[in-house]
Amino acid sequence: MSERTLVRAQAGSGLVFALFLIAHLVNTLLAPFGAATYDGIQGVMRAVYQEPWVELGLLFGSLLVHVGCGAARARRRPKGRGGANRWQRRSGWLLVVIVFGHSLATRGASLVYDVWPGFEGIAFSLHWLPGFFYPYYLLFCLAAAYHGGLGIVRALRIFGGRRLGGRRGHGRLGWLALLLFAVALLVALLAFGGVLFEVADPLNNAYARLYTGAGT
Ligand code: HEM
Repeated sequence: MSERTLVRAQAGSGLVFALFLIAHLVNTLLAPFGAATYDGIQGVMRAVYQEPWVELGLLFGSLLVHVGCGAARARRRPKGRGGANRWQRRSGWLLVVIVFGHSLATRGASLVYDVWPGFEGIAFSLHWLPGFFYPYYLLFCLAAAYHGGLGIVRALRIFGGRRLGGRRGHGRLGWLALLLFAVALLVALLAFGGVLFEVADPLNNAYARLYTGAGT
């Protein structure tokens, strides 16, 4: 496959996956409005992204094409050629390492045990292993926002869109947006963690019982 075709396939599949990612991150940032709001919005979104042809075809299909193109291009790239995309690539490989485990831990529970994590599932994870899950969600989401944000700008350029970003990488506006996102994300995690307001007992739900082995 030509490099040009690979670049376009990677950009196109990235834009498709970004539709889910943007919705998913917006859903996460709504946690400070309470469990009912978070779960309510997630339920509406889920009706779309867990529709089998959407979930398998568009969501995971686009993710696999995107990662596959990345791997094919990495194999062709001369060693040591870092350049402007170095952090784009590093954040991308970090996401590859995390996203499949995350999908298994969340979607796997609902597929195999009919247990949807929801707000209480995230609250449980932060209560269960705070030293791991706070930095994990922060790093995961910031990598996704950086990689996804830069990726959308570059993909729009590839498909002939307006020059959105600065000459290289995120413009000043992009860095400001990333900073604001980081603050909103931290507030959302503090909401899940029961720091902003009282949350239901994080150990008393089906998702927690599934992970602590107390049966479902
Ligand atoms: C703090 C950050 C995050 C939280 C709290 C979170 C939470 C969740 C939850 C609760 C689900 C289950 C959704 C449902 O049952 O409908 C889920 C699924 C998923 N998440 Fe995340 N997520 C986060 C970040 C991310 C990021 C950054 C990505 C991608 C780069 C991602 C990719 C996915 C995918 C692919 C699924 C499976 C969707 C499905 O097939 O239903 N998540 N996540």
